[in-house]
Amino acid sequence: MSRTCLAVILAAGDSTRMKSSMSKVLHPVAGLPMIGHVMRTVASAGIADVALVLGRDADAVAKAATVEGVNARTFLQTERLGTGHAVLSARAAIADGFDDVLVTYGDAPLVTAGPFAAARAQLAAGADVAVIGFHTDRPTGYGRLLVENGQLVAIREEKDATDEERKVTWCNSGIMAINGRKALQLLEKIDNRNAKGEYYLTDLVEIVRAGGGRAVAVDAPETEMAGCNNRAELAVLERLWQERRRQEVMLSGVTMIAPETVFLAYDTKLGQDTMIEPNVVFGPGVTVESGAVIHAFSHLEGAHVSSGATVGPFARLRPGANLAAQSKVGNFCEVKKAEIGEGAKINHLTYIGDAIVGAHTNIGAGTITCNYDGINKHVTQIGANAFIGSNSSLIAPVSIGNGAYVGSGSVITEDVPADALALGRGRQENKPERAKVIRERAIAFKAEKTKG
Ligand code: UD1
Ligand code: CA
Repeated sequence: MSRTCLAVILAAGDSTRMKSSMSKVLHPVAGLPMIGHVMRTVASAGIADVALVLGRDADAVAKAATVEGVNARTFLQTERLGTGHAVLSARAAIADGFDDVLVTYGDAPLVTAGPFAAARAQLAAGADVAVIGFHTDRPTGYGRLLVENGQLVAIREEKDATDEERKVTWCNSGIMAINGRKALQLLEKIDNRNAKGEYYLTDLVEIVRAGGGRAVAVDAPETEMAGCNNRAELAVLERLWQERRRQEVMLSGVTMIAPETVFLAYDTKLGQDTMIEPNVVFGPGVTVESGAVIHAFSHLEGAHVSSGATVGPFARLRPGANLAAQSKVGNFCEVKKAEIGEGAKINHLTYIGDAIVGAHTNIGAGTITCNYDGINKHVTQIGANAFIGSNSSLIAPVSIGNGAYVGSGSVITEDVPADALALGRGRQENKPERAKVIRERAIAFKAEKTKG
């Protein structure tokens, strides 16, 4: 039978070093608050029960922590008395009785389900506490894992460590699995007699051993354990996340010419044989189907790009942009909340917003859907196989029929029937010799001035 598990996520920190108006766990990595990453990992690990230990911005953090398939209860830790105290804030959830209690931090968003499973496997094998450790060249600040004869005997916090202990490079990640049946009884034995005067969760190792139980440590990759205390570390997390995800994406069949310049969001979906040129940024909510090309310097958010469509260079797809197969959105075009039909072309310097563009329609350079009258947004409907001449303004609400042709430079305020030619512009008037007269007058005037 599979073991039940409660994940206790510590997120009550004050985030002082972030120098921010919000809790650090709300700061995004790849477009998703850090706490959201942790919750998604918990969900992907098949853990259905979470106790969120919150302090600052509790309501906002709880909201950002909502994820499908996970029942999260929140607990307020009103005073920051240490990690041991923080876990005990969730006493009521722990008391419900789970096989495993898994503690992890809200500010360590890169962890995958692997270390969770590894720690829990140790409990299943009879350990009372299993700690996830990592090896690092820069152990300063971390608790050190002290091992004797292959047994984890203690975790020593930096401030309490001897010079000899500080040389240890195997560190406590903060992730710890505790025998759920004994958890409360063990946690209650933690005191605050140490250099920081805090209730250290890490004391559990010695407490378990003193009671004749078994404590073990399991190694995990350092890159998954990185946490965040300040903005510089936030940038490191972003870099590590991007590096990992780009790698996965490329191995799944996506070409990136310069992957280090492509920024993905947590939920970016890229189909096989998609080609991503340099300097492309994906905001949240983008799906690109197979064989599409995203040319350089494009920015996409909340958009769907179908098979064989091409975007950019220098294109912006905003939320609700939905490009059908083989369509094209070219340079310096912006598309928002618009259906772009199959094979339609919007190639240059155009804004299409709140619109429907039919299949195989061609939108000329500089076309603008004037969707906003200052108060309301209106829809522009363009049929299939239509042609919109360059530099036309389509004043919404307006509709242009299938196969219609709008002359360049038109201002279209009324519906255009199917197959009609619409010329929405003033008639041209040529005044013979007039330009020459003006030019000669100007030259004469200049000459007069330099004389005088
Ligand atoms: C802790 C570990 C250390 C480990 C390190 C990994 C202890 C005593 N030490 O140290 O061994 O190497 O993490 O990053 O556990 N928090 C609360 N309430 C509190 C205290 C902390 O919610 O009262 C939260 C913090 O917001 C943070 C996490 O718990 O997310 C860790 O707390 P922090 O004070 O940063 O612990 P460290 O000193 O870094
Ligand atoms: Ca820390």
